[in-house]
Amino acid sequence: MTLRVVVLASGTGSLFHSLIEAGDGSYEVAALVTDNPAAGAIAIAEAAGIEVRTVEPGNFADRPEWDEALAAAIGEFRPGLVVSAGFMRVLGADVLAAFPDRIINTHPALLPAFPGAHAVRDALAAGARETGSTVHVVDAGVDTGPVIVQEPVAVLPGDDEAALHERIKVVERRLLVDVVQRIAKHGLAVHDRKVTIA
Ligand code: GRF
Repeated sequence: MTLRVVVLASGTGSLFHSLIEAGDGSYEVAALVTDNPAAGAIAIAEAAGIEVRTVEPGNFADRPEWDEALAAAIGEFRPGLVVSAGFMRVLGADVLAAFPDRIINTHPALLPAFPGAHAVRDALAAGARETGSTVHVVDAGVDTGPVIVQEPVAVLPGDDEAALHERIKVVERRLLVDVVQRIAKHGLAVHDRKVTIA
């Protein structure tokens, strides 16, 4: 049975693109859901014939209303897995409740180090010699969910944020595709913050 995946992205969408390109038949990307009508990911989706739903916070009275609309937009596609790949907002209670333990996120740092929206910049500012990529299950916190896989990436002399982030993204794209394919084949379970894909 092919795993139906909905991808959440707010920006360029290169990780989203990797998921589309790597399709090995074990999963299908059913839709892109974004909060940003200017997201580069939208053009990638359209070129691939993938449905797009844009759910802008500014169109809703408050965060709970937006969260409810986001959950509905995702749910329309009946996903077996939701992949946050550069979605720059914290998912609220309605979304988490609608897809319990079925939302994963990719983060450009070795969590718990450098959580939040500026992980690459923060690692550089801290003088880290090594950072990396983490794929984890999303919980109610910010980048606090149980880790599925991590891989270190060296910080090189002269690295600026863009260079380091691009080098991290190369790893993220590989890890994310591998995790989604494994989940498609073996399923995903979380018990007491321990992740099992088998
Ligand atoms: C990725 O590094 C992801 O970890 C972070 O945002 C970036 C998205 O990259 N949250 P792209 O838009 O897929 O190129």
